[in-house]
Amino acid sequence: MNSLFEVDEACLNWMIGIRRNLHRHPELSWKEERTSQLIADHLSELGIEAKRVDGSTGIIAEIHGLPGSPLIALRADIDALPIREETGLEFASASDCMHACGHDGHTAMLLGAARSLSLERALPVSVRLIFQPAEELGTGAKALIDTGVLTGVQMIFGGHLDRHYPNGTVVVSDGIVNASTDSFRIAITGQGGHAARPHESIDAVVVGSLLVTALQTIVSREINPAYPSVVTIGRFDAGTACNVIAAQALLEGTIRAQHPSVREHLKSSLERIAAAIGQLHGAGIVVEFFDGTPAVINSPESASIAKQVAIQTFGKERVLDMKVANMGGEDFSYYLEQVPGCYVRFGAQIEGKEGYPAHSSKFDFDESALAVGASYYHAVAKAAGKALCSK
Ligand code: NI
Repeated sequence: MNSLFEVDEACLNWMIGIRRNLHRHPELSWKEERTSQLIADHLSELGIEAKRVDGSTGIIAEIHGLPGSPLIALRADIDALPIREETGLEFASASDCMHACGHDGHTAMLLGAARSLSLERALPVSVRLIFQPAEELGTGAKALIDTGVLTGVQMIFGGHLDRHYPNGTVVVSDGIVNASTDSFRIAITGQGGHAARPHESIDAVVVGSLLVTALQTIVSREINPAYPSVVTIGRFDAGTACNVIAAQALLEGTIRAQHPSVREHLKSSLERIAAAIGQLHGAGIVVEFFDGTPAVINSPESASIAKQVAIQTFGKERVLDMKVANMGGEDFSYYLEQVPGCYVRFGAQIEGKEGYPAHSSKFDFDESALAVGASYYHAVAKAAGKALCSK
């Protein structure tokens, strides 16, 4: 990419240095001590006062605009994943965890935006920077909101690096951009016995296997195919030996939906099918649900500001619509339940290199996307400030 947009080359190099430092020293959710100190140090280098969020590893800071300016928020997530890195990069993780979702890049690009915004004279907007821990657990946003990080905020913006889109692009869509995520656990109680005498037992492995297959029919047979949804069993735990019929089995999985009504439908069908299969075989079944993050829903006004800004900054050909539903979760949804805002994706494919998806041990992204992210945040903050002022 030739143009660096709102940020200069020195700023891009500064962001790359930060990204590599964070990448080398990843920290898991709620343990981002070094990360949050590094963020605070860089902010104070820029003359921006950083505050640690009470009882958390989150950092918030404010860049003050002209008196009476509207307040908007920009958010980056800062945590890593429990994955052993296999990229072979010279700045690869030195520990058992890894920035395999690009949150090192998100942190660096928000610092880049802070750097360029702090140089602006007569800024028409005040900007609250939110460096949020524990996105990977889906618990960070909610915890920060409970401490009041959104107080006074009129609009919020965030984004994610994405290997599905060409480097240098920004993907902006109105409405739903991420699915809701809930998880579940099904405990099956049969009756153990000798593997050679199945008639004396209730085989929890067989009941569990039927259940895995039957649950696949919820999405394929019960949900309108026009509404994206997923049921995945990620864990099936049962048995102790090859010659023992298992008395117990445990299934764990996740359900994803874009529409609240589909989310409820998936849950009630799962309960109904699990109970019926248990009854069919005389096994005990207990189903538990664990609420995850709601769907991420961009507000029309914020998405329109974001799209205009992206087109002005990067050119029409670099601004894409999300054509395929993203069934991944994102706790940015909690902010959007409180204030309007927009969540975008920053294209980050590395040209000529095999692509590995997020959460892969070989995940990497093109670092020039940091300039796109920082420029976008800078420009969208100003545009949102102007739009809110003229209201
Ligand atoms: Ni992520």
